[in-house]
Amino acid sequence: MTLLINPSLLSADFCNLERDIRILEESNIKAIHIDVMDGNFVSNLAFGVDQIKAINRITNMKLDVHLMINNAERYIETFVEAGADCITVHEEACNHLYKTIQHIKSFGIKAGVALNPSTNVDNLRYDFNLVNKVLIMTVEPGFGGQKFISCMKEKIVDTRVIRDKNLYDFEIQVDGGINFENIMGVVNCGATNIVIGSGIFNGGNIKENINKFHSILDPSCIV
Ligand code: DX5
Ligand code: ZN
Repeated sequence: MTLLINPSLLSADFCNLERDIRILEESNIKAIHIDVMDGNFVSNLAFGVDQIKAINRITNMKLDVHLMINNAERYIETFVEAGADCITVHEEACNHLYKTIQHIKSFGIKAGVALNPSTNVDNLRYDFNLVNKVLIMTVEPGFGGQKFISCMKEKIVDTRVIRDKNLYDFEIQVDGGINFENIMGVVNCGATNIVIGSGIFNGGNIKENINKFHSILDPSCIV
């Protein structure tokens, strides 16, 4: 099992984004999570294509792009060209999910599907064989700094059981409200890719916060 801490830039200091990115690199971070929001699927607005292009120019860390936009299928190629290494679309926001997953993978990058808290994991029954990543939202999407919805741990377990029983090959990612107290809980349920925004950037020192998250996890598992 490998574990990945995936910092969400939504909580970074936008006036000092490059500085924060360098701190992540120095902290042995391999992938960064970038939230794209359209003010429609979610009520907030965040990161656009040009910002992702600019970030891609200055770092070799993998770019994990989380699209919280309606009809995400319209923009897949645009985000691939911007430098995305993985694109995650929402099950609730895609008209033709299966085709969209295939489309993302046709560019040779990873495809993820995100599920809002109320969405049943069984909705992905016919997509499990295709996806590289299932993102269990542990808050309602749209904003950083929200409280972890603890019953989502049951959904993480359900997803892991389906995967292991059927020998599927996707990664389980969690996003929202992860902190020092609850990270081991989600990992024990089966999450291996942990998105953390405010827990890394808001309060204290970024590098120390990442070190603390890493030290809570089994160091032999961290990639
Ligand atoms: C919320 C975003 C998250 C957000 C997480 O919709 O998808 O990636 O940045 O932030 P925290 O860790 O503060 O909940
Ligand atoms: Zn996200």
